[in-house]
Amino acid sequence: MILALETSCDDTCAAVVTDDGRVLSNVISSQEVHDAYGGVVPEIASRQHLQLMNVVIDDALTRAGVTLDDIRAIAVTRGPGLVGALLIGMATAKSIAVARGLPLIPVDHLQGHIAANFLAPDPLEPPFVCLVASGGHTFLARVDDHRSFTVLGRTLDDAAGEALDKGARLLGLPFPGGPHIERLAAAGDPGAFAFPLAHGVPGLDMSFAGLKTALLYTVRDLDAVEGAGGAAARAADLAAAYQHAVVEQLTRRVARALDEAGLDQLAIGGGVAANGLLRARLTQLAPTIHIPERALCTDNAAMIASAARHLPPASPETVPGLDAYATDRAGSLAQGTPS
Ligand code: KG4
Ligand code: ZN
Repeated sequence: MILALETSCDDTCAAVVTDDGRVLSNVISSQEVHDAYGGVVPEIASRQHLQLMNVVIDDALTRAGVTLDDIRAIAVTRGPGLVGALLIGMATAKSIAVARGLPLIPVDHLQGHIAANFLAPDPLEPPFVCLVASGGHTFLARVDDHRSFTVLGRTLDDAAGEALDKGARLLGLPFPGGPHIERLAAAGDPGAFAFPLAHGVPGLDMSFAGLKTALLYTVRDLDAVEGAGGAAARAADLAAAYQHAVVEQLTRRVARALDEAGLDQLAIGGGVAANGLLRARLTQLAPTIHIPERALCTDNAAMIASAARHLPPASPETVPGLDAYATDRAGSLAQGTPS
């Protein structure tokens, strides 16, 4: 069994997963303290991880019905993410590994999102195309084996979830905005406004920053018309058109990726995978579409354990000096196992 820790952003996570990919526990403690600020505050995230980490680990072991004596390896997210947040998970994982004489397996967070698809009871076997769209990252990968991936395209600016969150803020909706936009959009007309689809971005890369600016100007223009009720009166139409633009851009890139890769298996991950419109559109594209259950799509430690099942441990003498990394450097991203 593997005990995995994940603290790359604002969720304090621990999970116990068997070597054959069964999730015995998957504890996610979300730090709602950030909601009041409209986004994650890094210093607060680190402090919260520090307070929650041991409690969350105890909970994961208890729920799995095991003790540390049953664990054969510790896995931990090394990056990309907020460095201060990652370091809490890494310091904890190192301490347990050294104290118990267990191997430590460092895992790339993005490889984790992909490896969520390898978990029982319904593992997806490579090759497949994977879209990961969350508040922190948005990329398309080609997956040919269990330990690495090749990036086919990525957002050049905001992540898709970040675009939804920022759009929601402009519409006066709470953080995180994705689910609120989806709810409001249900009563709106997606054709009411034509928001940009980033046609100018070449290949399989994506861009969402222009979309947010377009919404800002549209809201401003609507509010400038006296007596018409302003943007608030058109909130449902704005949400529907905005959601449509995000989903349409993602769908078109996925369609092209499947076509160019010559593959018909598609997996989706990240918080935006919860979006009903996106699911419906992507289901039309691929004969096999794999969407892990929600708790495995958003940030969690079971996906980190899943990735660790296929990765080598760090050599013991390097464990104390092992550092976190903040950004997804192209090389590390492509390999999944950065040095
Ligand atoms: O993977 P995730 O839970 O966490 C991080 O990014 O750290 O993704 C969160 C993102 C947020 O931007 C949120 O607005 C978006 O996923 N999201 C959604 C939905 N549920 C969550 N976006 C669209 N539709 C949803 N139903
Ligand atoms: Zn993530």
